[in-house]
Amino acid sequence: MKQAYEKYLQEILIDSETLQARVAELGAQISADYEGHEHLMLICILKGGVLFLTDLMRQISVPHEIDFLAVSSYGRGGRSATGSVRIDMDLKEGVNGKDLLIIEDIIDSGYTLRFVMDMLQARKPASIKLCTLLNKSSRRVIDIPVDYVGFEIEDKFVFGYGLDLDEKFRNLPFIGVVRLEALKHE
Ligand code: IMP
Ligand code: MG
Repeated sequence: MKQAYEKYLQEILIDSETLQARVAELGAQISADYEGHEHLMLICILKGGVLFLTDLMRQISVPHEIDFLAVSSYGRGGRSATGSVRIDMDLKEGVNGKDLLIIEDIIDSGYTLRFVMDMLQARKPASIKLCTLLNKSSRRVIDIPVDYVGFEIEDKFVFGYGLDLDEKFRNLPFIGVVRLEALKHE
């Protein structure tokens, strides 16, 4: 039977095996970089970062905490971020003196991460680094330093593996390119 997501899928951009292999590499690199650090905290940006977090943390061998931050960027029609970012759910734990590693699904304009990093910086952590699964650097409006990147991708709207298409299909194990034609007919 044809699955619901198929009509929106133009092509698979990154398949599941490729994703998992890269996540394992990132986990090994992060484990080496944070060796000996006792206060590592992974901060997952909800909702998109959640699959990436849960796979990545299984590949990180240094002890660490996790916490969650939900943000939304709003404006024009939902598919393009503007400069306005809002905190929907704040962290549960304090971050003072901790080594923060932000786990994000994708960086596009950079507005969301700039806002998040400035907010966290004000809470006096020991350090802040940024790890994103996908990076659309050609779309960047705000310059932000990215420490770990899973994949550089072109300016295409993608979904799956945490990223949504109108809130659905986050569960797909691969990253797919959205077939824009299919959206026009809805
Ligand atoms: P930024 O603030 O422009 O960097 O946008 C960040 C947010 O926009 C991401 O966290 C995603 O939620 C969303 N976003 C950007 N590009 C895509 C995409 O291709 N698919 C799904 N969500 C996206
Ligand atoms: Mg996001």
